[in-house]
Amino acid sequence: MSNIPVIAIDGPSASGKGTIAQFVAKKLGFHYLDSGALYRLVALQAIHSGADFTDETMLAEIASNLDAFFEAGRIFLKDKDVSDAIREEQCGIRASELAAYPSVRTALIARQRAFRQSPGLVTDGRDMGSVIFPGAILKIFLTASAEVRAKRRYNQLMEKGISANMATLLQDIQARDARDSKRSVAPLQHNMDAKILDTTDLNIAEVTNAVLQWYAEIGGVRS
Ligand code: DC
Repeated sequence: MSNIPVIAIDGPSASGKGTIAQFVAKKLGFHYLDSGALYRLVALQAIHSGADFTDETMLAEIASNLDAFFEAGRIFLKDKDVSDAIREEQCGIRASELAAYPSVRTALIARQRAFRQSPGLVTDGRDMGSVIFPGAILKIFLTASAEVRAKRRYNQLMEKGISANMATLLQDIQARDARDSKRSVAPLQHNMDAKILDTTDLNIAEVTNAVLQWYAEIGGVRS
């Protein structure tokens, strides 16, 4: 189990880590885990059940009993495809709130570690290299300026035909950065053993290649 390679990509909201992690996983023939999706699923389930977002015990129970699965790039909650629903801004904000509760995080640990399957795993989140997979063979901290991240998110929403406001998106991103990095458990931070990659002036192909290059340099295997 522990010799199955893991590439952990952590970073702030809208840093492009999901896109990069998926490209890298595809190139290497590895499995992929979007850990943020799990927090978003808990948030969506909590919204559906009318849960109180200040009730840590109730939220941890929802996380423990999460009836969700990933299949062919889509995400399901109780057999319903919620891939688009969990991407909504409100769901991200709620996910960030409940992610600050230690017992919610604990409830999701085993589920995340179960994704470590042969021939390897590429995963993205906030604490992949620090808490969930501390033995990851390659740890990357992906970042970009808040303005560039807000612009990327704006373009993404426009492409989907969803209207958005740049100033509000920037505010949301800054608020989320503050909440994700100031919480007491598993905060978003650049740990010393993670390579920092600032994508402000890089495109997707350049970032993907940089990650693959680092992986090759440490003698990484491909499937
Ligand atoms: O990566 P994302 O924006 O989809 O994640 C949504 C929220 O979930 C994020 O604001 C904080 C939380 N999260 C976390 O605390 N730890 C992770 N490993 C992944 C996400």
